[in-house]
Amino acid sequence: MEVLRPDDHLDPDFELPVSADPATFAPPLPTASGSQVSGGVDKTGDRVRGMFAEIAPRYDLANRMLSGGIDVLWRRATVRRAPPPAAGAILDVCCGTGDLALAYAAKAGPNVRIVASDFCRPMLDRGAEKGARAGRPIEWVEADAMALPFPDATFDLVTVAFGLRNIADTSRGLAEMARVTRPGGRLAILEFSLPRSALIRHGYLWYFRNVLPRLGNALARNRSDAYTYLNQSVEEFPSGERLAAVVRAAGYEAVTMLPLTFGIATLTIATRAATAAASAGAAVNG
Ligand SMILES: C[S@@+](CC[C@H](N)C(=O)[O-])C[C@H]1O[C@@H](n2cnc3c(N)ncnc32)[C@H](O)[C@@H]1O
Repeated sequence: MEVLRPDDHLDPDFELPVSADPATFAPPLPTASGSQVSGGVDKTGDRVRGMFAEIAPRYDLANRMLSGGIDVLWRRATVRRAPPPAAGAILDVCCGTGDLALAYAAKAGPNVRIVASDFCRPMLDRGAEKGARAGRPIEWVEADAMALPFPDATFDLVTVAFGLRNIADTSRGLAEMARVTRPGGRLAILEFSLPRSALIRHGYLWYFRNVLPRLGNALARNRSDAYTYLNQSVEEFPSGERLAAVVRAAGYEAVTMLPLTFGIATLTIATRAATAAASAGAAVNG
């Protein structure tokens, strides 16, 4: 398989690779049993929702400070690599405070419907406030990603940024995303990953385990250890070929992966298969 080049946001002419990179991974696939504890990390809906509700007021500030603003560039790279359709509909799942939906709103034409969904009301409320200031209509929908309240094949593009890892059952969430993506439509997943270079990974993991949780928990002033959860959930989440396999099983094809910033994040883009494949996702879910 083709080796991918990092730092897409530094290289505006970068072409999407044609295949997934199998070298990035180690952790096991998410359970297909519907278990809400994955790799020892508690992802029950109430826990995750409560955690994000607590950090919602300071979520954006913590993001900017902990990433040094690079998260903004990653979302821009997502919009560039998975651009909005000329006309149609986009769904941003696990939208949180809406930064990716807003980035799409800034680029999409007037004939594009933009929907942003999340199951945490305080995060959505912040997004809606920001959306009102931006002056571009976005529909904010309170919904669990594992039971999306939209008809089949509604969206030309479904996106999820730093959210897939938080969904209690990854396969079920992806099967729902596939169900609402029209055949031939696209899925874009922006998610944290671990650098492939052993040297960089070593240093990054030290920061990730020792510095980031303390800094993040203090910055976001939370008692629910959201930034300890962040580091644990990233380390247990599959990436590379393992993630690509789950995406394919949900009903997508032509999966491409693009490491960003030394592989600290990865942008995965896939196309919804033309044949009915939600059943494939259902099979993965057992
Ligand atoms: C790390 S935030 C990402 C927010 C935003 N996409 C961004 O790029 O900043 C993860 C979001 O996923 C949401 N989330 C987690 N599990 C969910 C689920 N099962 N259904 C809907 N939203 C979920 C949380 O409420 C939270 O707002």
